[in-house]
Amino acid sequence: MKRKKILVTGGAGYIGSHTCVEFINAGYEPIILDNFSNSKEFIPERIQEITGTKPRVIDLDCAAYESLLEAVKAEGNINGIVHFAAFKAVGESTRKPLDYYYNNVASTTSILKLMEALAIDNFVFSSSCTVYGQPDVLPVTEDSPIKAAESPYGRTKQICEDLIQDFYKAKEDLKAVSLRYFNPIGAHPSSLIGELPLGVPNNLVPYITQTAIGLRQNLTIFGDDYDTPDGTCIRDYIHVVDLAKAHVAALSYLEKSNNGLYDIFNLGTGTGNSVLEVVNTFEKIAQMKLNYTIGPRRQGDIVKVFADVSKSKNLLNWETKLSLIDALRDAWNWEKSLKTADIS
Ligand code: WQD
Repeated sequence: MKRKKILVTGGAGYIGSHTCVEFINAGYEPIILDNFSNSKEFIPERIQEITGTKPRVIDLDCAAYESLLEAVKAEGNINGIVHFAAFKAVGESTRKPLDYYYNNVASTTSILKLMEALAIDNFVFSSSCTVYGQPDVLPVTEDSPIKAAESPYGRTKQICEDLIQDFYKAKEDLKAVSLRYFNPIGAHPSSLIGELPLGVPNNLVPYITQTAIGLRQNLTIFGDDYDTPDGTCIRDYIHVVDLAKAHVAALSYLEKSNNGLYDIFNLGTGTGNSVLEVVNTFEKIAQMKLNYTIGPRRQGDIVKVFADVSKSKNLLNWETKLSLIDALRDAWNWEKSLKTADIS
C-alpha cells in the first residue's frame, strides 16, 4: 500500500529525527525539510540504519516560500506537515531576538501559506510548556493561563500558536494541533540518533552526559535554594521516543476528524523530578560520581512545572511508557557512542 507522505520540517533535528523513525514504523513516508543550520547531514542515513528506510530530504529554509512551494509541489500529495524547524535556546533568544522572530515566526507563516496553496489539511506544531511561564497551579493543564513569556523564544511559540488559531478561524478545513512539550531528554535506544547540541549545551541532561564523558569539567547546578523538597528546580522530563510517538498519535487524531479543528495538548510524563534527582539517578545508571557544584540561580528559570497529561491520554490515546531511568540510560549510551565515533 502506498505510504502517506508527511513533510517533517526540522526533520534532521533532535525531536524531528526521532519522529521520522516513528512515522516510518507507523507506515508513513516522512519527507525531511531541513536547512541543516542546527542538525547534521548524516541523520537521514542513521534513520535508514534504524528503520531500513532513508527519508528524502528537501534542503531548504522554511521561510523561503517560493522555493518551498516549488519543491513541495513536486513531491505530489502531502498528507500532513509536522513543523519542528525553529531556534530553541532560551538564553540565545534574549541575545538574538530578531533571528528568533524571523526564523520561528516567518517559517511558521511560510508553512501555513504552503498548506493553503497546496490544500494540505493536517498540521502538527511543535510548541512548548514555556508558554505557561511559572504556573500558579500544578500540574498544568492545557487550560492553564498563558503567562507573559520569559524570553523571545517563548514569545515566538505563543505568537505561532496564535498564528495557527487565526488561520484556523479563517479557513474552515484546517485540522491542526499545537503540542506543548515539557522537557525532552534521552536518545534512541540504538544510539544512532540523539541530541546534538551545538557548542556548550544549555540543557541539563546533555550537560550531565558531556561532564560524565569528560567534555565538560564540571556541572553547575543553578541554585539549590528554591522552594522545593531538595531546593533545586522541578521539571517534567519526557523520553524523546515517547514524545516522537505522540506526533504519530496526533496526526492520526487529525486524520480521523471529519471537520476542521484546532486543539492543544500537553506532552509530558505527568510527574516532576528535581535537578538533584536527575543527577543522582544518572550517577546510579552510569555507576559514577558526577562532578558538580551548586552555583547561583539562572535568570528566567521557573521553579516548578509538570504536566497534567489526561487530555493527551484520553483524546490522543497516548501516554509515556519510558522512565527517567530509561531516558538517562539512553542519553548516556548516546554520549558514549559520540565519543567512540568521534562526532562533535
Ligand atoms: C532544566 C533545569 C536549570 C543546565 C528547556 C528549554 C525550553 C523547553 C523545555 C523546548 C533547570 C537546570 C540546566 C545546567 C542546571 N524545551 N540546569 N545546570 O530551562 O526547563 O527549558 O526545556 O521547548 O525551551 O529551554 O530546561 O534543561 O535548560 O533546565 O542546573 O547546566 O536544569 O536551572 O532548573 P528548561 P534546562
